Amino acid sequence: MKNILQALRGQPTPRPPFWLMRQAGRYLPEYREQRKQAGSFWNLCFTPERAAEVTLQPIRRFGMDAAILFSDILVIPHALGRRVTFVEGEGPKLEPMEANDIAKLSYNPAALEPIMDTVSRVSSKLDGNTALIGFAGAPWTVAAYMCEGEGSREYAKARMFAHANASLFLEMLDRITAATLEYLIAQVRAGAEAVQIFDSWAGVLSPEEYRHYVIGPTRRLVEGMKNACPEVPVIGFARGNSAMLAEYAAKTGVNAVGVDTATPLEWAAKAMPETVLQGNLDPLLLVADGGKAAAHAMSMRETMKSRPYVFNLGHGIVPQTPVAHVEALCNALRR
Ligand code: CP3
Repeated sequence: MKNILQALRGQPTPRPPFWLMRQAGRYLPEYREQRKQAGSFWNLCFTPERAAEVTLQPIRRFGMDAAILFSDILVIPHALGRRVTFVEGEGPKLEPMEANDIAKLSYNPAALEPIMDTVSRVSSKLDGNTALIGFAGAPWTVAAYMCEGEGSREYAKARMFAHANASLFLEMLDRITAATLEYLIAQVRAGAEAVQIFDSWAGVLSPEEYRHYVIGPTRRLVEGMKNACPEVPVIGFARGNSAMLAEYAAKTGVNAVGVDTATPLEWAAKAMPETVLQGNLDPLLLVADGGKAAAHAMSMRETMKSRPYVFNLGHGIVPQTPVAHVEALCNALRR
């Protein structure tokens, strides 16, 4: 079995497998070239030949143990009928939700067919040691973008929307959850061998909100995945709020938990003795110093040596990361 799938299932591996969040992206010149030819980020996501090519670029260079599908979490609002655009240098923009838009959200899986095509293309090109990870945004994080209309520091608009329309907001999460489950299962049918659920904005919520908006919908996704494809490991990455992380691991039933940069790995290991952990090197250390990043990675492996572990960053690679630093890190990790 592929190393990384073995680790995600909680079995020992010869060395900890690794991949890097946002391993495909602007720090790679060959990505920037594809991005330019595609004309826009969204075109790149919806052109299967190009999306498959950029998914494979980091694997060719660095030999990660897994490729992650090149796409975006905001394809779900798009398939639910919301307008999504990416403004150069500003990030995503969505038409903000009004309460009476919620009943109109209707999932159109055909809109995401090109992504399934990308998944099958990548799947057919990977060797017997490299797995393909599919992904989706967690319902809370996707809902947060849909309500806010753009990225934000605190997601105050989204949280106020939820406070003001409590039962409607839960209905919105339900609709997103149902669509996301169908989308993840389709990725598996097309060749994804594990999936990651990105809850990038879990950290802005109170404990009560976290239980209702993060843990509840994620548990429904995991249950749905366990019914449809029980052999496929699910990684949950709920960024921010480590005080809720052990409860998240226990109640959602994810196979593995992504640990963010701010959370001490030793603490996470003690707090979640039965959970496979993934993480959590500082992406900015990788910008600053490849040698130090590699040395730190080796000490993290030492900390985790008695249990199944997937090495990763604690958040995504940033565009200014020097390629040589990523190379130094990956050379150390392949040993
Ligand atoms: O290599 C990979 O990890 C796979 C591809 C991937 C992208 N986005 C490509 C991308 C994945 C897994 C994502 C997930 C994603 N998208 C998240 C969750 C992960 C996280 O970072 O917390 C979020 C919050 C988004 C929403 C999103 N997409 C934002 C906020 C932005 C703008 C940020 C920026 O850096 O400009 C994007 C655009 C985006 N998604 C880019 C890439 C490579 C940059 C777009 C470009 O090339 O111009």
